[in-house]
Amino acid sequence: MIEWHKSDWRKLPRIQMPDYQDADALRTVESKLASYPPLVFAGEARRLKSHLAKVSRGEAFLLQGGDCAESFAQFSADQIRDTFKVMLQMAMVLTFGAKVPVVKVGRMAGQFAKPRSAPTEVVGGVELPSYRGDIINGFDFNAEARIPDPARMLQAYTQSAATLNLLRAFSTGGFADIHRVHAWTLGFTGAPEAEKYRAISDQISNALDFMTAAGLTGETNHELATVEYYTSHEALLLEYEEALCRIDSTSGKWLAGSGHMIWIGDRTRQPDGAHVEFARGVLNPIGLKCGPTMTTGHLKALINKLNPKNEAGRLTLIARFGAGNVGEHLPRLIRAVQEEGFNVVWTCDPMHGNTIKSSSGYKTRPFDSVLREVREFFGVHNAEGTIPGGVHFEMTGQDVTECTGGVRAVTDEDLSDRYHTACDPRLNASQSLELAFLVAEELSARRSKLAAAAEAS
Ligand code: PEP
Ligand code: CO
Repeated sequence: MIEWHKSDWRKLPRIQMPDYQDADALRTVESKLASYPPLVFAGEARRLKSHLAKVSRGEAFLLQGGDCAESFAQFSADQIRDTFKVMLQMAMVLTFGAKVPVVKVGRMAGQFAKPRSAPTEVVGGVELPSYRGDIINGFDFNAEARIPDPARMLQAYTQSAATLNLLRAFSTGGFADIHRVHAWTLGFTGAPEAEKYRAISDQISNALDFMTAAGLTGETNHELATVEYYTSHEALLLEYEEALCRIDSTSGKWLAGSGHMIWIGDRTRQPDGAHVEFARGVLNPIGLKCGPTMTTGHLKALINKLNPKNEAGRLTLIARFGAGNVGEHLPRLIRAVQEEGFNVVWTCDPMHGNTIKSSSGYKTRPFDSVLREVREFFGVHNAEGTIPGGVHFEMTGQDVTECTGGVRAVTDEDLSDRYHTACDPRLNASQSLELAFLVAEELSARRSKLAAAAEAS
């Protein structure tokens, strides 16, 4: 049993967290949250961990995606449905490419707190504290909105509970039937500009037609009509995370009850800092963002701290270096992991290292850079003989114009049309699905190479 208590992080240096002005109001919110039901149950977190253990061995592939920041103002059933829907389509295409199950994890139902690169922001000569996500303060650019308000944690909890409720209903209520999911994808590949993806979707159609003919349908086979869908977010606001910690009666261990998987951001991964201290003690699968400043020494220290028993599925390393930088950083980190024999999942976040300012002034990410980073990630793993376990995207099912490029090309000039993100630019539904097709091609090429190598040896 590790020595750990859910409030130990309070003794350590904390960064990227608000200083609440009203300590009484904060305490009232914390005790309310502590009395509420957890959002997820320990058995689910353990099950996700076992799926991730398969990912670490190459027996499954991880698809993690969703908003950069969920928002109170844009909360709606359609929004949840559309993101869930495009993730199912992507998962199906990826399953086809990888020929292994795809583990689906949303950046949803809790992804509210944001680390920022600067503590303040200046607009038109006025300087105000930065927006830190709806769970902390308001997006509007006025002094009052930017004051951290603990009551926002209660709203985030309520929104997360309602989101999870709908996701659970969609997952098992018939919405996720494999034939429906494929029919949606045909809507995309049917368009002339997406013609190059039609061959794969035709092959999926053939496989499904064969299954139906053989009597395998959603009605006869529960697995074809339902999916397992998990939630995740950055565990940044530790007062909220601590208040939702619960003891799992089966194992006697602590569960972070705020979501199935939590991750530590690239800015808050100090080995002796508050965020690592919190995450090390909970039983959930943990993600760790690894950017260009991650040293091999820190990575080893972090892995020893976060996964001292070297449990497979416990730790997912989320590489986010930026296109053109993967070759410089990923091999040294992979070798450090291999040297120590650490069990990890390697996944690729091709979003956070590829943010640029467009000529029209918007923060954007070019589709080509996103794709290039994914390809570099696969290339390095292929060269090192290690496993590219998954992908991590900021995306939405809505038809936004936030990232440039893709077959239905979004240009710099288009960005102002439907730029709705509360924080970083997301791939829209079409760009997300297109990326899934391209990653599926990488996965299928990798399978052919491995098979050829096995045959030759
Ligand atoms: C994020 O995932 O939204 C994020 C802030 O990422 P990172 O910590 O990698 O910058
Ligand atoms: Co982001």
